[in-house]
Amino acid sequence: MQCRINKVATRRNDKAREDVLVKLNLFVTIRGRFRQVIEALQTGDVDMILISLTRPRWAKVQQSFNTGDLNVILKAQREYWNRVSDGLMGPLSPQELRKHLIEVFNNNNIAIKDETRLLDFGCGVGRIFMALSIYKYQYTGVDIAQNLLKRCGKVVRQNGIVIHLDGYSLPFADNYFDICIAYSVFTHSSKNQVPTMLSQISRVLKEGGIFICTIFEDTIMRLPVEHNWVLLNKSEFTSLGRSAQLKLMDEYQFPEYAEYYQTGLIFRKVASIDG
Ligand SMILES: C[S@@+](CC[C@H](N)C(=O)[O-])C[C@H]1O[C@@H](n2cnc3c(N)ncnc32)[C@H](O)[C@@H]1O
Repeated sequence: MQCRINKVATRRNDKAREDVLVKLNLFVTIRGRFRQVIEALQTGDVDMILISLTRPRWAKVQQSFNTGDLNVILKAQREYWNRVSDGLMGPLSPQELRKHLIEVFNNNNIAIKDETRLLDFGCGVGRIFMALSIYKYQYTGVDIAQNLLKRCGKVVRQNGIVIHLDGYSLPFADNYFDICIAYSVFTHSSKNQVPTMLSQISRVLKEGGIFICTIFEDTIMRLPVEHNWVLLNKSEFTSLGRSAQLKLMDEYQFPEYAEYYQTGLIFRKVASIDG
């Protein structure tokens, strides 16, 4: 999504600022100057900015908001992720990510053994695979973006498999995986696609299997995103997890993009959510 900053105003107007922040959360890019502008807005250094979207783009945004059409959203997401494929290593190096994941595993008694089947949902360029390279286990990475998957495939080579798909229908048997990791995937997914994705993840997880993902605490005021779809916050996501037999076991502060309060969540697949 491209947008243009028209004007930075210094007039105090909290309501306007709130409105603009909500719009920014929906429309602007996380990178470069927009990020600084948003930080300035959040700290109160700047009161208001006006942005404009070109007409065709705005029409497209409205279309996916209004219809909630999953194919429109999916197509936009695929195009988006293919386009940003160059910058997808994230602020944490594989070594830092490894240190973080080992801590998460240790704190939650999660063991990675030779026979452990791990699904990296939204694997991107293979950062999780790189981070977990000290373990011997069975890796499967899936992603919607071919450009990213190609790069992931080169990293994984014969030490696992990578599959191109849309996350709505996972081509695996029920109760197949021991662990599913989806880092920075649901922080970018639309409200109306998450239930299907979660029910697929739950289906392919064994009972007692672990699902680890990250999500934003509060998507309205925290995250400037350049996507035009509607995000879920932590409590909405957790409640959808319950509907998919995924019981929240633990949560932690994810060190990446900590300024946007990205939280790590650990679920266990249970036979019955009340049990
Ligand atoms: C921010 S990247 C994170 C990549 C990786 N998990 C990591 O931490 O480096 C989000 C990834 O999710 C993938 N993705 C988004 N929606 C998806 C869907 N519906 N099905 C499969 N992959 C999806 C994107 O293509 C992208 O690779």
